[in-house]
Amino acid sequence: MDNPFGLLAELTYRCPLACAYCSNPLNMADYADELATDEWRRVLVEARDLGVLQCHLSGGEPLVRNDLVEIVAEAHELGLYTNLVTSALGLTRAKAERLRAAGLDHVQVSIQADEPGLSDRIAGTPSFHRKIEAMRVVKELDWPLTVNVVLHRRNIDRVAEVLTLAEQVGADRVELANTQYYGWAWRNRDQLLPSRAQLDAAEAVVRAARKRLRDRMDVIYVLPDYYSRYPKPCMGGWAARQLTVTPNGEVLPCPAAQSLPLPKASVRVDPLERIWTDSPVMTAFRGTDWMPEPCRSCVRREVDFGGCRCQAFQLTGDAARTDPVCHLSPDHDLVASAVRAANADSRPDDRPLIPRPHRARAPTA
Ligand code: SF4
Ligand code: FES
Repeated sequence: MDNPFGLLAELTYRCPLACAYCSNPLNMADYADELATDEWRRVLVEARDLGVLQCHLSGGEPLVRNDLVEIVAEAHELGLYTNLVTSALGLTRAKAERLRAAGLDHVQVSIQADEPGLSDRIAGTPSFHRKIEAMRVVKELDWPLTVNVVLHRRNIDRVAEVLTLAEQVGADRVELANTQYYGWAWRNRDQLLPSRAQLDAAEAVVRAARKRLRDRMDVIYVLPDYYSRYPKPCMGGWAARQLTVTPNGEVLPCPAAQSLPLPKASVRVDPLERIWTDSPVMTAFRGTDWMPEPCRSCVRREVDFGGCRCQAFQLTGDAARTDPVCHLSPDHDLVASAVRAANADSRPDDRPLIPRPHRARAPTA
């Protein structure tokens, strides 16, 4: 067992957006008792002592927290590399300057499309122009900027325009991530899953852009695993390199694992080091001993670790099964049937997305 490299600090699940592809938990009331500033300080110290080097401050919308600057300052003083993962709503110049002074290293802004109307429809709230303005501030303050765009059936045809937008705002890195179907996104899966033709066209655009922009902007393209022959090595293996702390202090190997029927572990009860090393939630699928066939005897078991436990649970109700994305899985038709439906000619593209209810007002100060 290695020490974790990265901490995903989910400071709050409150969020001014209402994205149809949101992967945050559905049972929001369970996370309302958020860790206080001093509790986050202790978590950061324990994470540093455990070997964590990178701290991703995420949510929900982390800017909703009034103590974000203090949390960033603590992480910075501990020597952690800090990355703010934000919708940018609430990233005013005054707030950005305070975060800069506190030592924030990197900003990742999500945008839903290149075109204001479409972006706002997908986000479920008018937000496009505020995001563009916030990205301008990020560059003026000389931060490295990653633009993150979740791709799906409604926006993937505009990937060329999305890349142009990323260039225009001066992004150092653009992350084009196909939707993962957890949380609210699962409810919209059939409306969001792109067709094979859409994916092929997008991949050609991405290949050309990588060549053209290789000295100026990193272009990261996260493949849609439903179309892959093998599953993704999710999180680099269960509890192998990353850990997540939820707004109420639960500790998980990945954000989506809150839905799995595993015993809870909390920083309010135990030190992070003990949770990482010994807790049932961390040890449940660590390594390869837990694997069923066909993974157990598969040559790729140390390559993809049997795929994603959360996806196996979502699709089969059993987190210990082979990820159904794998073509060798006995449950593979659960994925193949969704892909067949996404490629049926008769499939209409105007089916309404189910918007996630709003969970916070936009922060202002
Ligand atoms: Fe990976 Fe398991 Fe499929 Fe082998 S059988 S490729 S280990 S998911
Ligand atoms: Fe939890 Fe893949 S998202 S293991």
